[in-house]
Amino acid sequence: MASLAPGGVLGELAAVVLFCLAVMYLWFRHRYSYWSSRGVEGPKPVFPFGNIRDVLTRKTQFFQPYTDNYFRYKHLPYVGMYTFNRPVLSINDLDVAKLVLIKDFEYFQAHGIFSGGTGDPLAGHLFNMHGKEWKDLRAKMSPTFTSGKLKTLYPLVNNIADDAVKYIDLLYSNGEPINFSELYAKYTMEIIGSVGFGIECNGFKNPNSEFYRRGHEYFEPKSMYWTFVRALAFIAPDFYKKLGIKRISNEILNFFFDLVRQTVDYRQNNDYKRNDFMQTLIELKNGQVVDEKGKVNYVHGFPFSMTDVTANAMLYMFAGYETSATTGNFAVYELALNPHIQQKARQEINRVLAKYNGEYTFEAQNEMEYINMILDETMRKYPPMRALFRRCTREYKVPNTDLTIEKGTMVFLPVQAYQMDPEIFPEPEKFDPERFSKENKAKLHPCQWMPFGEGPRMCLGLRQGYIQSKMALVKILPKYELRINEKSPVPMKIKASSYACAADGDVWINLKEIRHQAEAADFSCSKAIFVRVGPAVVEADLAQRTRRVPLRPNARAPPKRGHGPNV
Ligand code: HEM
Repeated sequence: MASLAPGGVLGELAAVVLFCLAVMYLWFRHRYSYWSSRGVEGPKPVFPFGNIRDVLTRKTQFFQPYTDNYFRYKHLPYVGMYTFNRPVLSINDLDVAKLVLIKDFEYFQAHGIFSGGTGDPLAGHLFNMHGKEWKDLRAKMSPTFTSGKLKTLYPLVNNIADDAVKYIDLLYSNGEPINFSELYAKYTMEIIGSVGFGIECNGFKNPNSEFYRRGHEYFEPKSMYWTFVRALAFIAPDFYKKLGIKRISNEILNFFFDLVRQTVDYRQNNDYKRNDFMQTLIELKNGQVVDEKGKVNYVHGFPFSMTDVTANAMLYMFAGYETSATTGNFAVYELALNPHIQQKARQEINRVLAKYNGEYTFEAQNEMEYINMILDETMRKYPPMRALFRRCTREYKVPNTDLTIEKGTMVFLPVQAYQMDPEIFPEPEKFDPERFSKENKAKLHPCQWMPFGEGPRMCLGLRQGYIQSKMALVKILPKYELRINEKSPVPMKIKASSYACAADGDVWINLKEIRHQAEAADFSCSKAIFVRVGPAVVEADLAQRTRRVPLRPNARAPPKRGHGPNV
């Protein structure tokens, strides 16, 4: 039997472990003087977590330490922090933020997340790339997001918003309050399935839809193991790379690979084309870039494999799902808490619809500017990504200071802290869309409000993001009045286990159907709701839309939208 006595095997093992821990401790202690030796102040790190212990124990959300330390060290231009032993510079000063994101972007081109390789084939996508690879792919994907292309994608989103309203009608007819967090998750996942993957996932009718389930699992890993592995890939990418382990389970990986392969095969074998994001990826795989007028340009020297197609379809999920879902969800929450703003939004929708004969056209939704202001204000209070992050890719001397940022250093920009700072946005808790009127928006510092990021790496899907968050909202508001249900926490807390700024506790809403103009006017704080400028069809359409029709699940087969497997 192994003995713990001096000289025994376990004893020797314990001594080796103790020795390693001691060396590690001393090494970390040494690392923890990194910022002070450069004259940068910051919170005291704790061995071995640095400043993120509460994140790892899931007590606080991933970006919370950067938000907290912004307010603690607001008088300074930046704060020196640590994730484990890795120095992170958190930027407080908006002008320094501007240098990092825009003016001197060439020094900070990377997001700094581990990507690709054997450990993680689904992560080799645009968001995670940097350097020339990123620049080339971004240029090739950009045509997908032009206004012309978005217009061709629009009917897909519009149909899904109709399905969302039918689902709401059903719940309403059962007299239930509505969980809008769940609704927006389903609605957005349908869009990702349809626009990103070219499939119909049927999540409204089938709560066990595999696409919905797997997609959800991708964001909220079930076990602590996957949560930890994902955090490691983000926080310590170099170390993670050495471990050579997968960030996503085989089940999720195989599911998405098979799905994409089947869709691509189907389209190629049947010479079938569809105006969606998947089509752009298939064209890239075939060495083509098709512009918005349909002109095909052939690209050479740009290999794009099936793995790249799958990874970049996942990009749509990664970048477009939680961001749009949480924005829509929080917008509903704030509108339920602010009836006068809700009413103003409803008036705008009805005014614009009257002009467009009651049709929710692409142009009509574009004209609903007050709704955009509501979304802008929502993303000020609850930016889906609470902080931006960059890795320094070339040594950088911060102008007018003694600080040199070394290559490899992570730089964080705590966006939500800027957006909730009373010196930047007075009365930050107040929900006030007027902050984002055209005139007011034009006066903003470029880094004062950045829910979509800023500079050359700014969100590529910004306009699609607005459309996704907007469409369900603009179809619900003319039909239903939103009132907060007592199950919704007020104020809302941020969920600690989510990377995104997600509500901790779902957003529950009571609906009241708007049957007549007078009823709506009762609730109004100003004039009547339906502006009588359009032809009779508007009224008829509104009457149709406000009719309470009890729906049964599967009462009518859903229209087929995608081609490929239904999952
Ligand atoms: C309300 C919705 C959305 C919000 C708030 C949002 C926000 C963001 C943010 C903060 C970034 C990082 C920017 C930076 O580092 O400076 C980003 C990047 C990105 N987003 Fe969005 N996003 C939204 C919707 C979408 C949608 C629907 C897509 C469609 C695919 C999309 C595609 C992308 C891509 C491709 C990037 C990476 C750009 C790059 O690294 O070059 N986003 N987004």
